Amino acid sequence: MSVGAATMSGGPEDGIAALADAGTAPAPQTIVSAVTHAAKWDATRAMSASLTGPQARWQPNFVIIRFVTSESQVPGIDTTRPHPARVYDYLIGGKNHFAADRAVADRGLEFFPQGRTGPRENRAFLGRAVRYLAAEAGIRQFLDVGTGLPATGSVHEIAQAVAPETKVVYVDNDPLVLAHARALLTSSPEGRTAYIHADLRDPMAILSDPSTRDVLDFSQPIALMLVAVLHFITDDDKPAEIVRTLLGALPSGSYLAASHVTAEHNRDQLEESLRNYQRSGVPFQARDSDEFARLAFDGLHLVPPGVTLVSEWRPESASPRPLPSEVIAYGGIGRKP
Ligand SMILES: C[S@@+](CC[C@H](N)C(=O)[O-])C[C@H]1O[C@@H](n2cnc3c(N)ncnc32)[C@H](O)[C@@H]1O
Repeated sequence: MSVGAATMSGGPEDGIAALADAGTAPAPQTIVSAVTHAAKWDATRAMSASLTGPQARWQPNFVIIRFVTSESQVPGIDTTRPHPARVYDYLIGGKNHFAADRAVADRGLEFFPQGRTGPRENRAFLGRAVRYLAAEAGIRQFLDVGTGLPATGSVHEIAQAVAPETKVVYVDNDPLVLAHARALLTSSPEGRTAYIHADLRDPMAILSDPSTRDVLDFSQPIALMLVAVLHFITDDDKPAEIVRTLLGALPSGSYLAASHVTAEHNRDQLEESLRNYQRSGVPFQARDSDEFARLAFDGLHLVPPGVTLVSEWRPESASPRPLPSEVIAYGGIGRKP
């Protein structure tokens, strides 16, 4: 079966076929591709389900969904295991989480009752960072790795409100984010968005993916977004090499916006909460501000005010801000010389 520019064969195409049968076939520019490994079926089915509802309407220029990871990285949506995207969604007041996610978050909140403040401050930092990049730095292309579940103020919504022609490639490794990817793909007609199901630990797969290459022009500046994702990469997975590989592919004048959980301000209180996370199978490593600054911004020119608590990075109001021990995350933006 052929859908747009992609050929589908094997198991997972039923949902897409239903979509086409329903008279909502993709526009010619639209490419939907899926690798047909059986292990990916759940994720594909979930994606299709979210795409085939009565409100499913394809628009030109807005959908490229690719699976680029190996079978072992796409186990489907396992609701019995907590996953960072869903735990975070629960903490910021979203609706896409399961009992296992709520259990690990609630247990964390027992140790650290202020645990919702950091995620909310981080999300607000993401918004200010994108606004700065679009409105002040003139960035028109974003590569957002560790996208999270769609929430108010996605990167393309914020950036395209400033410059409708902005292009965004989203990347996450959670099959549930994939299932909701359509909400990330509502680009302005002038811009484009794409979603790639891939893992930050394999940066070359992200960079070489045809969707990335198709949507982003690597001869022009790109903002790499690593917001609240690097703490899921432990030192064993060589996060500095990952960041270097991604930044190395971007031209001069590109930016990195990043944030990272820290235990610097309340080590004892946070440690049990973080151990609880790790015990649940989620890799996690908090880092101090200097470790984070070295990891993310080595060789970049930091945009003022530099690496700060996310709540202190260019706040847009003078209202009182939460304590460092509640915010527990640093953020910053660096420019590639
Ligand atoms: C805390 S959320 C942050 C979402 C968004 N960037 C924000 O700051 O609001 C972290 C996201 O990173 C994703 N993630 C974690 N480890 C990842 C990895 N190795 N590769 C890709 N995405 C990952 C999770 O699935 C989750 O959606």
